Amino acid sequence: ARSVNLAVIPGDGIGPEVVAEGLKVLAAAAGDDLAVGTTEYDLGARRYHASGEVLPDAVEAELRGHDAILLGAVGDPSVPSGVLERGLLLRLRFAFAHYANLRPVKLYPGVATPLADRTPEDIDMLVVREGTEGPYAGMGGVMRKGTPDEIATQDSVNTRMGVERVVRYAFAKAAERPRRHLTLVHKDNVLSYAGDLWQRTVRAVGAEYPQVTVDYCHVDAAAMFFVNRPERFDVIVTDNLFGDIITDIGAAVTGGIGLAASGNVNPEGDFPSMFEPVHGSAPDIAGQGVADPTATVLSVALMLEHLGLPAAARRVEAAVAEDLQVRAKEGGERTTAQIGDDLAGRVAGQG
Ligand code: NAD
Ligand code: IPM
Ligand code: MN
Repeated sequence: ARSVNLAVIPGDGIGPEVVAEGLKVLAAAAGDDLAVGTTEYDLGARRYHASGEVLPDAVEAELRGHDAILLGAVGDPSVPSGVLERGLLLRLRFAFAHYANLRPVKLYPGVATPLADRTPEDIDMLVVREGTEGPYAGMGGVMRKGTPDEIATQDSVNTRMGVERVVRYAFAKAAERPRRHLTLVHKDNVLSYAGDLWQRTVRAVGAEYPQVTVDYCHVDAAAMFFVNRPERFDVIVTDNLFGDIITDIGAAVTGGIGLAASGNVNPEGDFPSMFEPVHGSAPDIAGQGVADPTATVLSVALMLEHLGLPAAARRVEAAVAEDLQVRAKEGGERTTAQIGDDLAGRVAGQG
């Protein structure tokens, strides 16, 4: 039997609610040949208020010893914006070299999309968002703060190593898919230094993947095509910030943010990869038991796949696909826990 040592960070807002359901479904998927041990970490707004701690070094070191991390969401209106997001989430993505932020944008059968006449065949892409650099790097500063002459800069960091490793990963992913197409999404008409590095890197790495067709799309046009021509995309590779924004659009056109999964992947396995829904802590609905846990459950499927357990991953994904079909036919409101129970039941039923 395979054993997996999972660190769990429920976090803030709806984070604990959706993570509880993700773990329920994971337990159902585990079965005889997979033993999952979990260690829960109390990080987020509660701990910050209690002790001022966001992510103690010792906790980071402990997290490093796990096979994977499952995270709900962080961020709370009672904490200044960015303290937890940067201090916990981005710190982990950077420290654990989560350079491949995988965000499938996939329309499941039966799911209502706001796009007219679109079917699952039209919307099935994989956004590979760079996860450790770009404008997220925290470079820049402020001068003459609070004066009329204030200047704030926020630099986008793009290293050859950082761009090349994510581009290479995206090519490898594209080569595995039936359409074998990769689109670089950037803004090289304005961000000329960074855009040029991305373009040259895609050209150079592309020479090693003659079977993958490549094109380029400015990010503003990509935002439009997500809505009016989503079928033009297969795999997308893009900068950290562009990837953040277009994957929320991707979520909106595939049934909403409650269904959008992600994996912060360190492909080499030097560090644990971290799986989390694309959505945040949703303070507006926290504590009501109405959050959709499906995004977290699909993130668990991505985690199982990453851990080399594709059969379990497919069982979880199939359970979600069935549940979404039933939802489309029968409708009806279910609580967070009811959806989790239904999904766990379906996974167990597939044995
Ligand atoms: P959000 O994703 O939390 O919420 C946006 C909207 O989507 C809200 O109306 C919310 O109710 C809804 N929503 C989100 N998840 C849902 C679910 N599972 N089911 C049903 N509805 C859902 O984004 P926001 O409001 O911009 O941010 C709230 C907080 O979360 C902020 O502090 C932000 O920094 C943080 N955040 C954290 C992460 C993360 O931890 N990965 C991601 C995004 C935002
Ligand atoms: C996401 C979130 C984060 C991001 C924030 C909370 C730092 O929006 O995971 O998409 O921008 O990456
Ligand atoms: Mn986001």
